Amino acid sequence: MTAEIFHPATYAQAVPYDRFAELRRTTPVCWIEEPAVGTWPAGSGYWGVFAHADVKRVLRDPDTFSSHLGGTQIRDPETSGDLDFVRAMMLNQDPPAQSRLRRIVAAAFTPRAIRRLEETIADRARTLVDAVLPAGHADFVEVAADLPVWTLARIMGVPDRDRRLLYDWANRVIGYQDADYAGLSTADAAALSPLGRAALAERPASMTRPDGRPLNPRSRVGLADMYAYAHGLAAATGLAATDSSAFTDNSATTDSAAADRDTGIVGRLLAEGLTDAEFENMFFLFAVAGNETLRNGIPGALLTLLQHPDQLGTLRRDPETLLGPAVDELLRYWPPVMQFRRTATRDVTLGGRDLRAGDKVVVYHASANRDETVFPDPDRFDITRSPNDYVSFGFGPHYCLGAHLAKTQMRAMLGQVLTRMPHVRPAGDPVRLTSNFQNGLKHLPIRWD
Ligand code: HEM
Repeated sequence: MTAEIFHPATYAQAVPYDRFAELRRTTPVCWIEEPAVGTWPAGSGYWGVFAHADVKRVLRDPDTFSSHLGGTQIRDPETSGDLDFVRAMMLNQDPPAQSRLRRIVAAAFTPRAIRRLEETIADRARTLVDAVLPAGHADFVEVAADLPVWTLARIMGVPDRDRRLLYDWANRVIGYQDADYAGLSTADAAALSPLGRAALAERPASMTRPDGRPLNPRSRVGLADMYAYAHGLAAATGLAATDSSAFTDNSATTDSAAADRDTGIVGRLLAEGLTDAEFENMFFLFAVAGNETLRNGIPGALLTLLQHPDQLGTLRRDPETLLGPAVDELLRYWPPVMQFRRTATRDVTLGGRDLRAGDKVVVYHASANRDETVFPDPDRFDITRSPNDYVSFGFGPHYCLGAHLAKTQMRAMLGQVLTRMPHVRPAGDPVRLTSNFQNGLKHLPIRWD
């Protein structure tokens, strides 16, 4: 039975690392069944790729393993219209089309650009920890969740007061696998800008269609409010020099959110004259990719440290030197994204198996990171591991654009925990997310002295 590798419920218990190890030993490229899950219909099945070398081979060869043909999610888009729409996203393109879109935004993510944000990110992490410190306990998932949305709001040019919308949109996207997040809405309309409130009015009334089938959040209608917001933001950004009324209530004479904002990525995209679908998909990509991954990755990193007190002790003794390599090892050990999909463009042999043109191919970063031929004693968590050729940010042309930004946020938040929360320890059982894509935590109760 290979369906357990696909099934989201498997991951609500744990990432099946033992099963991955067995597959690497026996069938490193293996056919995985894709049964129906709840109201979601069964899929065609796919080739799972589990060995480090094969994962890299797939990711570096977009001519053979395309992101564009069928998108990058295991589930096929429901209609050809939905497929066409997601194909406007650079994540779901192959070079050279993807390279063109990537170049437009890349300058905002270089190590130098991110270094300029480092201090503000550290300040924000300090503020988030300040807010819970006196209580002596917290759900760390809630503490950490604001940092990525706050950072993204800055990068995208979204006013601070609207950032909760980013959080809600990401929830909706993961809600199709975990009912706890489906339809979850946390944005307080009264706190939003007029632009945010206008977008709320476009929110789908229900994520269930009249015939009982779920509405796909990765479709144009599933995120209608987000796309409305994206266009509103673009229009306001174009006007920003002379008129910021979209961000300010008429009654308010000053609005720090509007005053603070710069035009961010949205400004760059406008200058390049993208098509509507390209612009909308770029907005989606940043709103969700830079948000969900860290909301899961930061708590996952803390849980890993709590489960390895010897390594936590070592890190505490010299965070200055060790936090950088520790974050790399944390990402190897707890990859926030467990897999991505490609589609074979031609018949090809991989790992001794004959793949046919049109087959789905899914690379498992979570398995590649524990490949014993690359990582000695791969199940040992060792913050001094070197070299550390983990693939949690992917490999090849789609290598995560936000990798530096992600690591900066992880260092900022973990740095706060290490220095400000003495004797931090678990205060209850963590609760895992039901998802075969994101390696996530919904709750991580902690205490400190
Ligand atoms: C620990 C956190 C993160 C992880 C584990 C992660 C992981 C990944 C992975 C595996 C890919 C490659 C997808 C593929 O091969 O198809 C990717 C792409 C991408 N990521 Fe991240 N990501 C993280 C955080 C971020 C952040 C903070 C941002 C931005 C604000 C971001 C933006 C992107 C973008 C734009 C792409 C698409 C790049 C392209 O298609 O050329 N990510 N990410």
